[in-house]
Amino acid sequence: MLKVSAPGKCILLGEHAVVYGHPALAVSIDMRLELKISKLTTTSKFHMINGKEINRKHHPHIFDALQEIWSSKSQMLNINVSSEIPTSAGLGSSAALSVAIAMGLNSLKDKKEDLEKISTIAHKLEASAQGGLASPMDTSTSTHGGCVLLANKKLGDNWLYSRTLNDKKWEIHSFDLHQNMKNASIVIGYTGINGSTAQMVKNVKEKLDNNPELIQDIEAINALTALGVNAIENGDLEALGAVMNLNHNHLQNLGVSCKELDELVEVARETSLGAKLTGAGGGGCMIALSQNPKQTARDIELAGGRSYICKFGVEGVKIKDFE
Ligand code: MEV
Repeated sequence: MLKVSAPGKCILLGEHAVVYGHPALAVSIDMRLELKISKLTTTSKFHMINGKEINRKHHPHIFDALQEIWSSKSQMLNINVSSEIPTSAGLGSSAALSVAIAMGLNSLKDKKEDLEKISTIAHKLEASAQGGLASPMDTSTSTHGGCVLLANKKLGDNWLYSRTLNDKKWEIHSFDLHQNMKNASIVIGYTGINGSTAQMVKNVKEKLDNNPELIQDIEAINALTALGVNAIENGDLEALGAVMNLNHNHLQNLGVSCKELDELVEVARETSLGAKLTGAGGGGCMIALSQNPKQTARDIELAGGRSYICKFGVEGVKIKDFE
């Protein structure tokens, strides 16, 4: 049996703009998805997922991964999925699944780990599930862990590799967080409302097609992310919080926030350095950069959200066991 786990993520800056090739910054978080994969010894005609025959409608990422990677048509697999990452909440649960299944199947087949290959396959799985529009932000963060920057040019020693999809190109970088980042926590506030990433990405595209002037918001997010990268490199927590606040305003203009997210962002700002929605929006989660995490978490709860004070920058995908 093989056990593989992959972390969720939260986007600090740049979601949605990153779909159009602009930069974005994300960190892995200490919520993980785990897969147990074993070869079925019975003469089943189907792969089994959590005890049931596989069905593309319910498990598109796993179904597509099996088609892409698992060439042994006669050897069926038994796959069990368990996860601490809430689904459709903007915390990268489907990316963690794509990364974990790509890693698991690839390891069963080749017995060697190639993180660029895993991240590439997982990105293709996400793009297919998101109607063709997806950046490699979530999948590369879940693959490599730590702090991941997607940029439109190669930036020094932290560059890992390039990814392209259709006419878009991203340069993937992984870098160490400044030690000052340890002086603040990321507090997640979950609205309890599920948002569909595919739908939100589609909504933004339609909005941009119908209102071309909104490209200004995408460009402003681009500039804020660049400022945020400087702030993170210099360990300037106040500056990072300030650009997070401004980033949220532009996400509101793009129509991806909602009343519940705005309310949690507003209360969290009272005790934190900055707060914004994270991920696709339309529900899901917000994050606050806070030096009073317990108080920020309590205020989020009082305003009706579920709070998590998370460890961030944790290890990426890992094979836990071979038996
Ligand atoms: C979703 O976590 C982030 C988005 O930017 C979509 C993507 O990058 O593919 C909204």
